[in-house]
Amino acid sequence: MIKEISMNLERHLNLAALIFILMSTVPAISADSNTEIDFEKQILPILQNRCFSCHSAPKSDTSEAPIRKPKGGVQLDSVAGIGASQHGEVIIAGEPEDSLLYQRITLPVGETGIMPPSEEGHPLTEEQTDLIRKWIKDGANYGEWVGIQRQAKTYSNINNHHQPNVMPPITSLVFSPDGKKVVACSQAGLHVYDLPTLNLLRTIEVKAHNIHKLAYSPSGDRLAVGGGNPAVEGIIEIFSWPKLESQSILKEHRDSVTAVAWIDASSLVSASLDRRVILWDLSTETPIQELNGHSKGVSSLCFLSNKDILVSTGIDQSVRVWDLESGKLIRSMNNHTQPVHDLALRPSDTELPVIVSAGDDRTVRFWQPSIGRMVKFVRLNSAPLSVAWLNDGSKVVTACTDGVIRLVDPDLVEVTKEIPTLNGWVYTLAVHPTDGSIVIGGVNGQVRRVIPK
Ligand code: HEC
Repeated sequence: MIKEISMNLERHLNLAALIFILMSTVPAISADSNTEIDFEKQILPILQNRCFSCHSAPKSDTSEAPIRKPKGGVQLDSVAGIGASQHGEVIIAGEPEDSLLYQRITLPVGETGIMPPSEEGHPLTEEQTDLIRKWIKDGANYGEWVGIQRQAKTYSNINNHHQPNVMPPITSLVFSPDGKKVVACSQAGLHVYDLPTLNLLRTIEVKAHNIHKLAYSPSGDRLAVGGGNPAVEGIIEIFSWPKLESQSILKEHRDSVTAVAWIDASSLVSASLDRRVILWDLSTETPIQELNGHSKGVSSLCFLSNKDILVSTGIDQSVRVWDLESGKLIRSMNNHTQPVHDLALRPSDTELPVIVSAGDDRTVRFWQPSIGRMVKFVRLNSAPLSVAWLNDGSKVVTACTDGVIRLVDPDLVEVTKEIPTLNGWVYTLAVHPTDGSIVIGGVNGQVRRVIPK
């Protein structure tokens, strides 16, 4: 009897060992193996089968058929496309829980927003989501894969009598210093528009795959373009204005540059998804200071008027105040409960400086960074992606994911106006230096002018 049991046990053990050996010789399909995940062999097929039908670059099946645009503005068929979204990064290397893609594939079955959508059949298997999780955790390495290559020419060839109707998302916008042009950026490069017609005048290619931020130098003779190649490098390219000739390239960041702020003609600071803020000496094109403290990617920067004090914010939900010269963190303010996208200083020199921040928690929050206090906040009906002040500092303008521009009065602490503009996200906006108009940039490359009354 005892012998029988032990023989059975032995058989079981042998069987278990055999299964174990078999499994470990099968190519690494399971997520808990220690070998690095091969994107093209293990992850790409999942995306191809379950996601590409709705999340591919804009295309048309025949020359007459209407162009099909990627759903939700999310393009998964190229590294550049995946990195293009500024609103909640689709994939954040090392941070699966913060990556939109992983969040959406792991929602409870039947919940709205689950990807692929419930009507498209069964959700991804646990094995598949685990694989994706591990791949992101390990740094989201795409190997050799770049995916479909969209040429900048495809966009710039389109005649310039009116705006092309299909373009990648506009991620940043600025008015030229004289207020006569608008420069916008997307994966296709820099786009210069005439005002007030908004005719596209020219498109210029840039070094970075993805561009996130444009910033004119204080004297307006140069334009800094921040971007990069996701999870590989951050690039700041500096162009002359108005000729738009590339003058220099600053590389030190290890992930896309999301924000750039000038100090004077020979220095600027940059923020990156690599969690760092870097101060650059432009005469030598080298980093001279580094601010470390954000636990996740940094999304936005803003100086107080004397430019000794810098404020930064990011995916880690904190708003941080820094002494730039010493590189020391002065304080961290932690009221936001979701990633923060943007910051802007209230134009006024007399009172205590006030900064506004815009977060995924659907709030705009007002801060006094010099005393470290959140003064008030306003909750919106939709997440604000970008924020700016009217020139007189009387109101804040926000670009929201529901396509609505909202004006917020900081004294009344309420939304005073809602202007529906686009069908889809408004990624970015800028306020004209003098005439009070606002230009917005949308998920399908739209650039529109809005005049709040
Ligand atoms: C049948 C079409 C369809 C398929 C297939 C599909 N999606 Fe989506 N996806 C959408 C639509 C529509 C939206 C926009 C509405 C929304 O955000 O829910 C969207 C939005 C998204 C977003 C943006 C979320 C946000 O917060 O903005 C992500 C990320 C995403 N999908 C990932 C995926 C992934 C990953 C797959 C494959 C596993 C997938 N989708 C498959 C239709 C699809």
